[in-house]
Amino acid sequence: MTTSTGPFIAAIDQGTTSSRCIVFDRDGRIVAVDQKEHEQIFPKPGWVEHDATEIWTNVQEVVAGAIAKAEITAADVKAIGITNQRETTLLWDRHTGEPVHNALVWQDTRTDALCKELGRNVGQDRFRRETGLPLASYFAGPKVRWLLDNVEGLRERAEAGDILFGTMDSWVIWNLTGGAQGGAHVTDVTNASRTMLMNLHTLAWDEKIAESMGVPLNVLPEIKSSAEVYGHVKDGVLAGVPVASALGDQQAALFGQTCFAEGEAKSTYGTGTFMLMNTGDKIINSYSGLLTTVGYQIGDQKPVYALEGSIAVTGSLVQWMRDQMGLIKSAAEIETLASSVEDNGGAYFVPAFSGLFAPYWRSDARGVIAGLTRYVTKAHIARAVLEATAWQTREITDAMTKDSGVELAALKVDGGMTSNNLLMQTLSDFLDAPVVRPMVAETTCLGAAYAAGLAVGFWPDTDALRANWRRAAEWTPRMPAEQRDREYKSWLKAVERSMGWVD
Ligand code: G3P
Repeated sequence: MTTSTGPFIAAIDQGTTSSRCIVFDRDGRIVAVDQKEHEQIFPKPGWVEHDATEIWTNVQEVVAGAIAKAEITAADVKAIGITNQRETTLLWDRHTGEPVHNALVWQDTRTDALCKELGRNVGQDRFRRETGLPLASYFAGPKVRWLLDNVEGLRERAEAGDILFGTMDSWVIWNLTGGAQGGAHVTDVTNASRTMLMNLHTLAWDEKIAESMGVPLNVLPEIKSSAEVYGHVKDGVLAGVPVASALGDQQAALFGQTCFAEGEAKSTYGTGTFMLMNTGDKIINSYSGLLTTVGYQIGDQKPVYALEGSIAVTGSLVQWMRDQMGLIKSAAEIETLASSVEDNGGAYFVPAFSGLFAPYWRSDARGVIAGLTRYVTKAHIARAVLEATAWQTREITDAMTKDSGVELAALKVDGGMTSNNLLMQTLSDFLDAPVVRPMVAETTCLGAAYAAGLAVGFWPDTDALRANWRRAAEWTPRMPAEQRDREYKSWLKAVERSMGWVD
């Protein structure tokens, strides 16, 4: 039973490994949480899929679970917000609501060859000026094309107007608001900015790019702002509640960390790690391997843009150590194991499982462990696993400094991995900067709740949200500079070894 008095805002986070629902009170405090993992499907090396029907069932269960735990009803919930794993691509039948194929997950590399083909003679930056993104298997547009080319009869069905495309925000909102019986087929500017089909300048689908990519415009959802009422929940425990926000999970975390001023940045440690810096109304083109993306747009206000450093594999490396290697029994055990040794014993682990994302964008890279000798134990590997997350962050902060000219004063962090104190200390050591974690580390859901709350007037403005931000923990650098520089060089050598592994 909650001690907070209502009303409340609920948020759904449809993430890469799980779906969860969190209920928040007006102070931004968590009232109740429910969460459920879904299956990760690996049909071939480099391919990653999700069963969207399982995901929708889980979403309904966690919503019911969180509302039951909070001991409240729909009448206590002023709005619900949605946040989601970005880029994960789904096509479904608009009449039956049946997915035509499993969703292709953002980590999936099957569109490598297609992306090379699209960039032939022009290069990886063919659509960068319009979309802010390099041609890479990470983004949704090429995944849509792959499905249309590879699922029998699908292109004809799409051209006949029977098929809808969506990232997971669209899938969840369409189902919540009635599905085949009139569900809203929408997405928000942040999710749309990850498709490689939206023009950053106009915030509309870019018809020329869609044509070059072979994606019919009639499958695409309507692009909306991140904070407005898209429709109302049709059935279930929240029937009648307005669905009032959608943000890609990383943009939601930027919002939840209240990085509302230009130059403010956050880094979220989940399956992957994503650092975003608010660049205000400026669309900054990166020359250092970062992405340009939409940070958020509140209702009819001007959009806020961001620079992003995306790292594909961080938390999922710990999961791999647990599930595929069996070297640890729980994710938390990595800290105990890594703390049992002084250092990495000379080992460096570059987890390029989905190629290398920022700042390299090398889909030909694959994972390597370098520097092995017989001295190395599984504890050293555990340490190298944690260090991989910290070094990859360092590469991103170096790129941010180059592109923005702003030196990192401190890094605001959030996400599941931030409960690992050894990792947070290592991060501060490698960055040579303080690392700060807020009281509510669930900033992704919080950001979606904040945006939904603003849309329905639950919170008056962003100042009210800033007032809720509280520091919970801070780590400061302890590593001598010369040790840091030496280790960084070894890391960069290992990164080089990971490149050029596949054609
Ligand atoms: O771009 C991918 C990202 O949105 C996935 O986030 O937290 O589910 O790993 P997460």
